[in-house]
Amino acid sequence: MRNIEKYCSILTDEVQGLLLTSRYSRMYAAEFDIAEGYAIVSAKGCRYYTDSRYIESAQRDLHGFEVLEFNASKPLFQQMNEAIKDFGIETLGFEEDYLTVTELRNFETRLEAKFVPMQKAMNLFRHTKEQWELERMTKAQEITDAAFAEVCPRIKEGMTEKELAAELIYCLYKNGAEGLSFDPIVVAGPNSSMPHGVPGDRRIQAGDFITMDFGVIYQGYCSDMTRTVALGFATEEMKEVYNTVLRAQLAGIAATKAGVSGKDVDLAARKVIEEAGYGAYFGHGYGHSLGLEIHEAPNCNARNEEGLPVHAVCSAEPGIYLPGKFGVRIEDCVVVEENGCTILTKSPKDLLIL
Ligand code: GLY
Ligand code: MN
Ligand code: MN
Repeated sequence: MRNIEKYCSILTDEVQGLLLTSRYSRMYAAEFDIAEGYAIVSAKGCRYYTDSRYIESAQRDLHGFEVLEFNASKPLFQQMNEAIKDFGIETLGFEEDYLTVTELRNFETRLEAKFVPMQKAMNLFRHTKEQWELERMTKAQEITDAAFAEVCPRIKEGMTEKELAAELIYCLYKNGAEGLSFDPIVVAGPNSSMPHGVPGDRRIQAGDFITMDFGVIYQGYCSDMTRTVALGFATEEMKEVYNTVLRAQLAGIAATKAGVSGKDVDLAARKVIEEAGYGAYFGHGYGHSLGLEIHEAPNCNARNEEGLPVHAVCSAEPGIYLPGKFGVRIEDCVVVEENGCTILTKSPKDLLIL
């Protein structure tokens, strides 16, 4: 099935058209990435609008859409109204997560259609990854693993978190990254108790835990991994916390299979941390899905009572964070399968003391 057909499949008698505004939906529907544009999908025809900066590539590379240029003499709203008329659209489903209030008001004022939010339905088929998507995500993770192996020997006492983040970004691009799925988190020593701390000017010391959380974009798809390593030595407390997080992650991974709820996966990992007495120090959810975006549904957290679908790609990232002391997070990505899951992340997880 071509991706455009997935969007057509959610049209109804009440909603005869979809307005795609996010880069992610436009990319998924048209099977090609154009930085800026708009698309209308309907059973009677699909049109993609972009401007002179992208028109040549759009006309050559997009699949399933008639591609039209908008400019001052052919304004976007005028062309969209033509599509609304040509395709008999009365109501357009829109992406409420990707329109500002101003943009929506503009569309509602200028277009001759009613608007209804449809983000959830538009994202639903992205929960289950196709084989070609899994191949891209596998490659994205391979690049990320290779960068981790390359950055570890570069970690030296006295370098700042910012300097290490720069080395990490260099290693990611050197190994094939086409972009970063988010700004890497590099936090060391007491800063590592901040799960999403920002790399700063603190110098890394012997006895520090160093948490690095990073990922790349490869052919539009994200990777995401975290490793916590120690420099020089680790105290008994550091080892105990590290091994508790690792046991929790392995319990979560062991519980992951199609049909098991995100809540139960979270619980399997959380139980290990609670039983070890650190329950109060694991504040975030166990995991999220990813794909075109770094954070997608379905989540593996206490709020998701629905079963995970086959070939969702989810993160497995429990952590323990002791304020003022240190923190540990270990994150892999897994592909949900009928009878378990396949771990995409290949980097070792036993405590690494550099
Ligand atoms: N740093 C993004 C995440 O791990 O979810
Ligand atoms: Mn991460
Ligand atoms: Mn993550």
